[in-house]
Amino acid sequence: MENLIKKVKKEHLLNKEELVELLSDNSINEKLFSAADEIRHECVGDEVHLRALIEFSNICKRNCFYCGLRAENKNAQRYRLTAEQIVETAKIAINKGYKTIVLQSGEDSFFSAERLADIIKKIKQCDVAVTLGVGELSFDDYKILKNAGADRFLLRIETTDENLYKKLHPNMSLNNRKQCLYNLKELGYETGTGCLVGLPEQTIDSLAEDILFFKELNADMIGIGPFIPHKDTPLGNAQSGDFTLALKVMALTRLMLPYINIPATTAMETLVPNGRNIALQSGANVVMPNMTAMDYRKKYEIYPDKVSVDYSTLKENLSKIGRIISKDKGNSKNRRDI
Ligand code: 5AD
Ligand code: SF4
Repeated sequence: MENLIKKVKKEHLLNKEELVELLSDNSINEKLFSAADEIRHECVGDEVHLRALIEFSNICKRNCFYCGLRAENKNAQRYRLTAEQIVETAKIAINKGYKTIVLQSGEDSFFSAERLADIIKKIKQCDVAVTLGVGELSFDDYKILKNAGADRFLLRIETTDENLYKKLHPNMSLNNRKQCLYNLKELGYETGTGCLVGLPEQTIDSLAEDILFFKELNADMIGIGPFIPHKDTPLGNAQSGDFTLALKVMALTRLMLPYINIPATTAMETLVPNGRNIALQSGANVVMPNMTAMDYRKKYEIYPDKVSVDYSTLKENLSKIGRIISKDKGNSKNRRDI
């Protein structure tokens, strides 16, 4: 087992059986986390890149079984920020020193590519990177957004298990989601994906496949979080995902894709106290503080009790683990070739 860790540290490649072996054996966890931490230090350094997250609409036409924002959740209090509110929030973040603005929403058809393009252009007048997390769109719409100045795009695959994907995503298809990711890559976006860990019926085998998919796509960013049940969803009574397993999937992803950006996800910090710092010491190098105004933030309830962090607490926590806040845009070093 230790030889496998040595091998992936050097070659950044494991096959499915090897990934399954490492994911199943809990006696090597500490070694795995240290190896991921070392590779993170070597390949992307000690700087932590901050991304200002703006959750601009919680209206969603989809019905993902795990998510509190699903269209059929009548208990969700829906909101949509105006273009002016979005740009205003972005400017507040930029004045605080953020170099990346992440615009995230449910799949809200009100925000057509044209409407989003106008917002992106206004934010891009400042010297920042813009990341979008607005779901599945056509190639042409992704192109409109790219031409408006969007630099990066986040679209988690969620799970690569076909059957599970079908069960959890009514009227959606795994193939279409993969196609969206390949389209984003082709259009030149820094492309982010990722998965949920601990979904009901999810297997270790399929988590290994998820990691292999990240590698095959050559993703530039990967976000991994434990599943946290939300009471107003069909999975309300299911068990939470396991923090340690989510951390292992993340650490193995760092070892397989050494130059990518990996956030310490909010779901990790929500599930376990100090989860963010633990993630940052097991392969992660990005944090995404939430900049959404409080009234709206409460309503962006993908899962319950989502935690937030303020800048000064974060800075203090980071310095405790010998990490510093980056002052640049923090482009993915996975694309150092272009
Ligand atoms: N628990 C954890 N993460 C969730 N997401 C959606 N619902 C949940 C949940 N219940 C994640 C999905 C999505 C991202 C925006 O939030 O992976 O891509
Ligand atoms: Fe909508 Fe995204 Fe939630 Fe699915 S995960 S219901 S697409 S907000």
